[in-house]
Amino acid sequence: MKEKLKAIQEEALSKISDVADLDNLYKIKVDILGKKGQLTEVLKGMKDVAPEDRPKVGQMVNDTRKTIEEKLETMKAQLEEKALNAKLAKEVIDVTLPANKNEIGHKHPNTLALEEMERIFTGMGYEVVEGPEIEFDYYNFEALNIPADHPAKDEQDTFYIDKNIVLRTQTSSVQARVMENTQPPIRIISPGRVFRSDAVDATHSPSFHQVEGLAIDKNINFADLKGTLADFAKELFGPETKIKFRPHHFPFTEPSAEMDVSCFKCGGKGCRFCKGEGWIEILGCGMVHPNVLKMSGIDPEKYQGFAFGVGLERIALLKYEIDDMRLLYENDARFLKQF
Ligand code: DAH
Repeated sequence: MKEKLKAIQEEALSKISDVADLDNLYKIKVDILGKKGQLTEVLKGMKDVAPEDRPKVGQMVNDTRKTIEEKLETMKAQLEEKALNAKLAKEVIDVTLPANKNEIGHKHPNTLALEEMERIFTGMGYEVVEGPEIEFDYYNFEALNIPADHPAKDEQDTFYIDKNIVLRTQTSSVQARVMENTQPPIRIISPGRVFRSDAVDATHSPSFHQVEGLAIDKNINFADLKGTLADFAKELFGPETKIKFRPHHFPFTEPSAEMDVSCFKCGGKGCRFCKGEGWIEILGCGMVHPNVLKMSGIDPEKYQGFAFGVGLERIALLKYEIDDMRLLYENDARFLKQF
């Protein structure tokens, strides 16, 4: 019995010394000390030991068990430390590596141009209001003095949802909405998306943006319109900017005009940018037609006003010297990054 225990102990200690990981250590523990383990088997043989020898043999078995258990514990502690060190080694951070670069977003040229226009007009006391993109035919056309047989109402130009509802073709629709529920004085600009049945090319898109302006008060005349838009142009394109009005026709204004600014690139001499003209057209404007005031419940004998409509993309293209409108819609990060 003594020999047997010694053999078990020696084998166990050597096996434990050679073990490389905790799983295998556990297996060895079960093999020796488990219910069906070697030492347990030895204990079962106790019944064959003479009664007077039993305490001595029992003591020997316990000593062997204790020695093996102690060895298992030491090894377990060693293996656990090894595993922890391996884990920590894997988690080491090399603080000398270059940091990840965070890409910072850029504002779209349309947004920049709009923010600039809003800054200028709110500075003059204008309020920014928005209207719906899906609009009643009434606000888009009729309330703006555009008769039923006007060419703009042709399906070739306008997206119809049904007979009475359109995708608005101009932000002028917001004028009628505002006048209908506000009594003068009114000073608003209204930016937003508009839609026209156009094919895409360098200067056209079926969906683009306009900024509408409207001022209604007592004793407003064309000189007020001119002064306001001259200030606007100077703020936007620089203090040297000159303006020029050309007579035009819009059904909702009388008289109506288109406004040009002197080319801020060549100062008016004529260059590639202004196509040799020296002038660049930027907006449509005029004195609000008395019919439009009347239809929205404002007395044209008491109040007058002016209105204007600017193409936002046009301003963005000019201000940032972009020569193809499609760039504004493709949202290619390599393009947008430049702003
Ligand atoms: N709505 C016009 C257009 O889309 C632009 C415009 C012209 C707006 C004259 C106005 C205005 O308010 O008075 O071409």
